[in-house]
Amino acid sequence: MKKMFVLLLTLAMVLSLAACGGGKKMTAEEGVLIMATNAEFPPYEYMEGNEVVGIDAEIAAAIAEKLGLELRIENMEFDSIISSVKEGKADVGLAGMTVTPERLEEVSFTTTYATGVQVVIVTEDSAITTVDDLFADGANHTIGVQLATTGDLYSTWDIEDAGLGTVDRYNKGADAVMALKSGKVDCVIIDNEPAKAFVAENEGLKILDTEYAIEDYAAAVNKDNEELLEAVDGALQELIADGTVQKILDKYIG
Ligand code: ARG
Repeated sequence: MKKMFVLLLTLAMVLSLAACGGGKKMTAEEGVLIMATNAEFPPYEYMEGNEVVGIDAEIAAAIAEKLGLELRIENMEFDSIISSVKEGKADVGLAGMTVTPERLEEVSFTTTYATGVQVVIVTEDSAITTVDDLFADGANHTIGVQLATTGDLYSTWDIEDAGLGTVDRYNKGADAVMALKSGKVDCVIIDNEPAKAFVAENEGLKILDTEYAIEDYAAAVNKDNEELLEAVDGALQELIADGTVQKILDKYIG
């Protein structure tokens, strides 16, 4: 009798645990899609008053709508986006983020929705005229980048670690551009679209014709949340297929 009771009790516990597991929330907060971004990256994400706007904000809104979720955007340092997705505080990292092998060890990425190009911004009178000038023996330039971006990673590996120059890391791309204007750095390596925006806002700067690297942007999702990845990626693929993503890109990139 006692044995039977223990057995039944155990069975009840196992069943209720299973039920809990089945009811696990897909997103960090029921009914909400939390997007982690760094709104220092026009036209993908930037501030307009108190609001984060731009390509990624609109794509996220379209994804959230498809999934029947309310979108909440959290603005943070670029460096914090991946950890916030890893810790499950944010559901998606959407920040003009490049897919790299190193990041793929930490998070999952959706389908690619845009291409990015790492370019070099210099002052109009700069002695640097091509990307190759940065790699010349004895070049010894100081390169401004936004901390933890691919511009930072590549120039650190290719130039600083190779003893060909120094990398100065800024929290914002715009701060690196200010450092270029005031002569603290010799150039800035950053993605092409923000580069165009920064050059348009600041006189005396130009973008070199030669490109440094070509890369793919995608949304980052927690590695262990297969259900969320499938949902977000499925929605994104539909938005790519029906032309919505292209329409959003065209709206911001002429
Ligand atoms: N594409 C570059 C990277 O993934 C830069 C992205 C910066 N994005 C931003 N929202 N600040 O590293």
